[in-house]
Amino acid sequence: MNAHTAKHPAVAAKADVHAMVSHETVLSPRFYTTDFKALDAIDVSLVRREWDALIAEMVSDPNKHHFKREQDFSGIIAALEPELRAEFTDFLVSSLTSEFSGCILYAEMARRTSNPDMKMLFKLLARDESRHAGFINEALKDEGIGIDLSFLTKAKKYHYFKPKFIFYSVYLSEKIGYARYITIYRQLAAKPELRFHPIFAWFEEWCNDEFRHGEAFALLLRADPKLLRGANTLWVRFFLLAVYATMYVRDHARPVFHQALGLDPTDYDYRVFTICSQIARQVFPVELDTDDPRFRRAMDRLLVASNRIAAGKARGGLAGAWLRATGAIGAGANFARMFLLRPRHNRLPATVRLQPAW
Ligand SMILES: [Fe+2]
Ligand SMILES: [Fe+2]
Repeated sequence: MNAHTAKHPAVAAKADVHAMVSHETVLSPRFYTTDFKALDAIDVSLVRREWDALIAEMVSDPNKHHFKREQDFSGIIAALEPELRAEFTDFLVSSLTSEFSGCILYAEMARRTSNPDMKMLFKLLARDESRHAGFINEALKDEGIGIDLSFLTKAKKYHYFKPKFIFYSVYLSEKIGYARYITIYRQLAAKPELRFHPIFAWFEEWCNDEFRHGEAFALLLRADPKLLRGANTLWVRFFLLAVYATMYVRDHARPVFHQALGLDPTDYDYRVFTICSQIARQVFPVELDTDDPRFRRAMDRLLVASNRIAAGKARGGLAGAWLRATGAIGAGANFARMFLLRPRHNRLPATVRLQPAW
């Protein structure tokens, strides 16, 4: 540690956090943009009754008073063991980035469309995500490592996705967000002595917001049945696998964080996949068989390959390039292996809506 950081640990930590959010990898949460004009043509009449009920629930704003704190969280992160502090900070920063990326995308969708259904929905979604991002940022600010969100808006690259790809991926990220938060919440409800930070106490109602958001995208997908048929089922499988694989690799990079929660990352991830796959039967006609030993073997090999890429990047030079190239081949081959395994098929239910019962 140099004299400068010794004098100003918060300043150094802040620089690290800003580097963390602006550093872009395949695994980091991304910012998206889309064809906003296409939203004008979306017609929800096939699911109108369920749509109106969902919007009414969101307008009633069940979590309006949830994201308030009695006292701040100062000093809690700073007092953690260094490894746990680093991994937990990474967890918060990456959660904040996902929440905020949702907020930016939804706000832009609300602003750019003239379709009243879409305008209403995306305004409500942006309201919630901005609250979520703000709440995490407060926890970081208490430690002097809050993120300047306008910096984040400018620093991140925006990736273009067609609206249908936005819908598949955002549906999944909302539902998997629910499954992740509720699994941690239930674990800590059973073992309260492991709750090393108060923010976890907010997760139950918080993830009900994510569940509702996912419901909206389920309805949007069911409102246009061709998005869930034919060649599009290949896209569904692709997005399921991309979301699961990304989560698996990321979570395994935080062993100390999971250990502190009394969770084994492999076991935790497969629990989350199971919940997410069960929920997704409301909308996807196919699901991945994540219990198939061949799937699990390939997922572990993908993790090894991905660690090889990371080691290659850290090492640099010719040896690093070799690690990266062979890692990329391994990751691609194992992704393809999982993609090609036979999926399970579901018959879509007549009504779409579900309750967050996990
Ligand atoms: Fe959120
Ligand atoms: Fe959300």
